[in-house]
Amino acid sequence: MRSVVKMTLLAAALAMSAPAVMAQDALKERQTMMKEIVGKNAKLGNQLAKGEVPYDGTQAANAMTAINGVPDKFVKLFPAGTDSDSVAKSEASPKIWTDMAGFVAAADKLKVASAAAAEAAKQGQAEFATAFGNVFKACKGCHDAYRVEKD
Ligand code: HEC
Repeated sequence: MRSVVKMTLLAAALAMSAPAVMAQDALKERQTMMKEIVGKNAKLGNQLAKGEVPYDGTQAANAMTAINGVPDKFVKLFPAGTDSDSVAKSEASPKIWTDMAGFVAAADKLKVASAAAAEAAKQGQAEFATAFGNVFKACKGCHDAYRVEKD
């Protein structure tokens, strides 16, 4: 009997906190995407472009293709209540929610730039380095407008 009551209470508690849990999941997922896929591959791209890592066109192309897969998924992970004012861990500017079209356009720039860099990677290090510059511009363009960096 008591365990039934406990179960019911637990179910009710879970149901009530579900939206909050889902929002936290989206926050974590988008931050992991930025850090583990975009950040890591951009770092590798930078090292390859500068020759800090011996240039390998396939490696460079793969890094850019990995980045290219992120923007479409990333822009869908911004549920209400996960902006930088609402959540301590969030660096997502409230501007994302008031200007979603601009945010999606900034994400599209990263898609276009990373696709071009993946193509340029096959032509050689100099071509890749030039194209990679545009990838960095796309990062900065979005971060300047839509990311609030906290320490
Ligand atoms: C369309 C916008 C957009 C583009 C383009 C973009 N970012 Fe981000 N990035 C964000 C936002 C927004 C956050 C903050 C996410 C949050 O805290 O919820 C972020 C966070 C990050 C983080 C921190 C992740 C963490 O650990 O919390 C890194 C690293 C990062 N970006 C790297 C990059 C690099 C490198 C590029 C370019 C190759 C890039 N980003 C392009 C919007 C973008």
